[in-house]
Amino acid sequence: MTAYLKMDEPDHRRRLDETVQGIIGTAMDRPDGAAKVTGTAIYAHEDQPKGMAHGVFARAPVAKGTLTRIDGEKLRALPGVLAVLSGPKFLRNPAQGGANEAPVQGSETIAYLGQPIALVVAETFEQARHAAHMLEMEITSEDGLINPEDAGYETPEDQQDSQGDLEQAMRDAARSVDVTYTTPSHNSGAMEPHASIAAWDGDRLTLRGSYQMPNYNQYELADSLGVEPENVRILAPFVGGGFGSKLGIAPEAVAAALAAREVGRPVGVALTRQQVFEATMRRSESRQRVRLCVDSEGRLTGIGHEAYVSNLPDEEFSEPVTQATPFLYAGAHRVIGHHIARVHRTCAGSVRAPGESIGVTVLENAMDELAHDLKIDPIELRLKNIPDKNPTSGLPFSSHTLAQALKTGRDRFGWDQRNPEPRSRREGEWLLGMGMASAVRVNILSEARARVTLSPGGTALVETDMTDIGTGTYAILTQICGEMLGLAGDKVIVSLGDTDHPHGPGSGGSWGAASSGTAVFLACQKIRAEVAKKLDADEADLTFKDGTIIYGNRQAPLSDLIDQEIAVEGHVEPGKTSDEVTQATYGAHFAEVAVNAVTGETRVRRMLGVFAAGRILNAKTARSQCLGGMTFGIGMALTEEIAHDPRDGHIVNHDFAEYHLPVNADVPQLDVVLLEERDDYANPLQAKGIGELGICGAAAAITNAIFNATGVRVRDYPATLDKVLAGLPQKA
Ligand code: MOS
Repeated sequence: MTAYLKMDEPDHRRRLDETVQGIIGTAMDRPDGAAKVTGTAIYAHEDQPKGMAHGVFARAPVAKGTLTRIDGEKLRALPGVLAVLSGPKFLRNPAQGGANEAPVQGSETIAYLGQPIALVVAETFEQARHAAHMLEMEITSEDGLINPEDAGYETPEDQQDSQGDLEQAMRDAARSVDVTYTTPSHNSGAMEPHASIAAWDGDRLTLRGSYQMPNYNQYELADSLGVEPENVRILAPFVGGGFGSKLGIAPEAVAAALAAREVGRPVGVALTRQQVFEATMRRSESRQRVRLCVDSEGRLTGIGHEAYVSNLPDEEFSEPVTQATPFLYAGAHRVIGHHIARVHRTCAGSVRAPGESIGVTVLENAMDELAHDLKIDPIELRLKNIPDKNPTSGLPFSSHTLAQALKTGRDRFGWDQRNPEPRSRREGEWLLGMGMASAVRVNILSEARARVTLSPGGTALVETDMTDIGTGTYAILTQICGEMLGLAGDKVIVSLGDTDHPHGPGSGGSWGAASSGTAVFLACQKIRAEVAKKLDADEADLTFKDGTIIYGNRQAPLSDLIDQEIAVEGHVEPGKTSDEVTQATYGAHFAEVAVNAVTGETRVRRMLGVFAAGRILNAKTARSQCLGGMTFGIGMALTEEIAHDPRDGHIVNHDFAEYHLPVNADVPQLDVVLLEERDDYANPLQAKGIGELGICGAAAAITNAIFNATGVRVRDYPATLDKVLAGLPQKA
């Protein structure tokens, strides 16, 4: 049985408010939590089949060049070595000429330093690593284009947009700002490095990997190998974080699959942290020019946002920096621009809210600059400029909570304690300041399928290839199913991350919970209707609770009412509510910082994030997502920066000792408020994505607070102490 919905109409019913099980929205513990903290949850590289061989990459030592000779044969004499894959044997789908959506591998053309060139397979990891170091290759190297500013920028026509006359609006404005900020390359920073174990059974490949979107990865991998998708099964039941780096199939999966076929036994390839940095992907650095102009009342008349990013030659992705700019604030005259440089640096891809992460951050810095120039409160400036419909497309908003988030945060944070005059609060060596920023992230519904099987014994099984990448999917799908079918959380089993299950959209773009959750909801709704049919009752008259059905004056256990399993596959597709309304999540960030007047060091003292993302499915995991996003905001503001060697693009700080993610000592008490909201246009759950909202704009609240504390505007992220110090008066 199936239950299908195309989301063409808003759903104004409140199904999940009418059910009585009482677990939806609660801070229910993760069902997978115990397995994770006791180390019994099996991650990709831990499930090693007997006889598994190990593969280790040999990688390009130059940024650009051509591989002219490689001598794998010599290595065969080394202990334990089973095979060396290079050249055509190592290409992604040679039939397609090595179509490259992911980092190029096996090609004779070297496009970046660190590109996988060969895979050495041996009995043990140590033998493979040793042999990989001994691999001799000859390369004709050329100077690569490393610095995007030297490479120059392409201006793809379909990525430019304008309306009205921004130049004129800037000239006519009562006040305007025209500022340029830069943000560096970032690494996704997932805890679990990429790893895959491939095993062939005849024509059929099973790959246990650390992936966000198995539904999609199955097709990518099949395409890379030149086999049918039906013959590829991907297992990813536990994923130790993705943050974009595991959206697409990465080189180790293709390599493991090719090698396992070559040596006729399972092969595992686990990347080192250095390889994750250099051979998976990075967030593009950006240069962003923001122009804002206002009338004498502080109402925006124009917005310009032009972004300059980079990627490898021929890669399609470019960071959608301005994604939220068309609709966040009002203003008739607009310019949106996207420009991309082709450089020989590690592939650029999606990292932690691609687009808004850095785009909203810089826009919110520019808003702070404008508010300061206007001598108007930065919250006031935003409140004045909230549009009542999408100012670019003219479409209505599905819901809009920015004003509520701003006002809630203003009161809770104690914004009235802020002195708008920079450098006006001091405690000994420390200059204190407060800053804020809006948060916004587009909301996406993706096609999703999930099967729910209700057993007469009063348990249910949920199956989908959706993943839990640390986000809480196991918990929220348990809650949706339990709530709809009247089952306690421990009566619901959720099985994820197996492409033999119905296909979900995976975890990306914050769409996972609402999309997969809707598929589960639809299946449960149909199961309820089936139970009602068996009782010859109207579903609306039935109450499902604790494994029983209450109808009329009777209450009976499920086992009395159904004698066999009921299985339904729920299936949702986006429809008109995605195309004909603008859907987004909103929030507001607040930060208080202390900047040392002598050293320029910034300490974040406290942060508050107020967020609205429709119905909150699990209060604890939703809050945790926001805490994570805000923590990444601290990293973006203060410490995170990939350093490329200007000569060859080598990622100099390719590990967590040198690439500085915020650690416990950097992160103060973070306060999160989740606003009560139902978005009827989003899906029947009225829930929206929350995973990425917490990072969008967070860094701006911190750098705006640094300005308030010191009077120093750091327009080149991250705001490290040297940059802050350079702007401080010499005699502090
Ligand atoms: Mo996300 S960066 O779309 O995994």
